[in-house]
Amino acid sequence: MKIITATLVTLLTASSAMAIDMPADGKSKCGACHSIDKKSVGPSWNAVAAKYKGQADAEATLVANITKGGKYGWDMGVMPAKGLGANDKQIAALSKFIAVDLNQ
Ligand code: HEC
Repeated sequence: MKIITATLVTLLTASSAMAIDMPADGKSKCGACHSIDKKSVGPSWNAVAAKYKGQADAEATLVANITKGGKYGWDMGVMPAKGLGANDKQIAALSKFIAVDLNQ
């Protein structure tokens, strides 16, 4: 029993210490160009979260920018409208993930 408890504690600690993972829709529609914590073709989503931290309209701004695509001052090229074909529901969820979850 002691061993089982110790294993469980280790597992729980390990999983809570792990970095926050990109949602599945993000991986398939955006992951070719973005990661959470590393700059790749586009900015890391942590950097985007930091840019909009504390702005009340951050989520709505991200929905608009991801839907329209374009240039937003990162000087990395052009963000394609809707990424790799994300739908409105996925864009809303990913905007919330970036603006809210990553800023916690
Ligand atoms: C083909 C590559 C590519 C794909 C796919 C892509 N992006 Fe981007 N994204 C970029 C680039 C490049 C930029 C930086 C544009 C610039 O230089 O300002 C960017 C910028 C952004 C920004 C910053 C906008 C801002 O207001 O500062 C967000 C948020 C973002 N992308 C989210 C997404 C999401 C969500 C998806 C998937 C639905 C996605 N991207 C898919 C290339 C991509």
